[in-house]
Amino acid sequence: MNMPRALANLNGVTMPLEEVKVSALDRGFLFGDAVYEVLRVYRGRPWLLDEHWQRLAHSLEAIRIRGVDLNRLKERMFATITAGHFQEALVYLHITRGVAPRKHAFPPDATPTEFLFVQDFVDGYAQMRQHGGQVVTQPDQRWKRCDIKSTNLLANVLATQAAAEADCVEALLYQPDGTLTEATHSSFFWVREGVLLATPNNPGILPGITRGFLVPLAQKVGVRFEDGTLRRADLAKVSELFLTGTGAEVLPVVRVDGRPVGDGRVGPVTRKLQEAYMAAVRAWLGEG
Ligand SMILES: Cc1ncc(COP(=O)(O)O)c(C=O)c1O
Repeated sequence: MNMPRALANLNGVTMPLEEVKVSALDRGFLFGDAVYEVLRVYRGRPWLLDEHWQRLAHSLEAIRIRGVDLNRLKERMFATITAGHFQEALVYLHITRGVAPRKHAFPPDATPTEFLFVQDFVDGYAQMRQHGGQVVTQPDQRWKRCDIKSTNLLANVLATQAAAEADCVEALLYQPDGTLTEATHSSFFWVREGVLLATPNNPGILPGITRGFLVPLAQKVGVRFEDGTLRRADLAKVSELFLTGTGAEVLPVVRVDGRPVGDGRVGPVTRKLQEAYMAAVRAWLGEG
């Protein structure tokens, strides 16, 4: 598979992504003792930077990785974007507790590993944003602190694979009582009787940055928003459903588990929010 053009920075050293080497004793590799972030770069500028930085700080603090200079990390990210002349890109940031002999408890003196790369954004969603995509539902087998953007993604990987095998773009995850939590790498919203709804932030879901931006934007463009809970059994009562994410932006879903959402076409609230979202990006870029 063709890799998008990418440039990395490992602990302050810029290098091609393919040349990055990390010790087998790195705790990110051995224990998944690490957190990460992903940002979208539009025309060379990282979008919703402060929000992503706050979430990264929350994740680091929640697992008690201390001593990371987040301003220095930001400078390294900007330097990498500039060095690679990136325009439409994604930034991946990954911080581990560092390299130490393999013992579960925190090592007394490890230095965190600070890894980032920037790569050209290859938009695999363009068609689906227009016509809508399909999702499956899958049991949510993750841990109880999904508010931490941890690199422990095995349950997400398995559910995403189930989606891929069903020719679907994503999997909506559900708890044993049927409550849908979020998708494997996206947040989701639904529309019922003209009202936009989403699961309130809680430790069982990641506080999506795109979701956080969209809620006040929806209200600004006249869409009523409420916190809600959606069970699998109530999917038939929903008229629209869409995913949000850093790369996906606002992605309509027209089928869940093979059954149409509403009339099976992209609905008016979804369209309105797609347009409002891209208009907000353009305004921020000064292209309004
Ligand atoms: C589990 C999960 N939920 C939601 C999201 C969407 O978050 P964001 O809008 O910050 O990209 C992601 C993004 O990767 C995710 O992994």
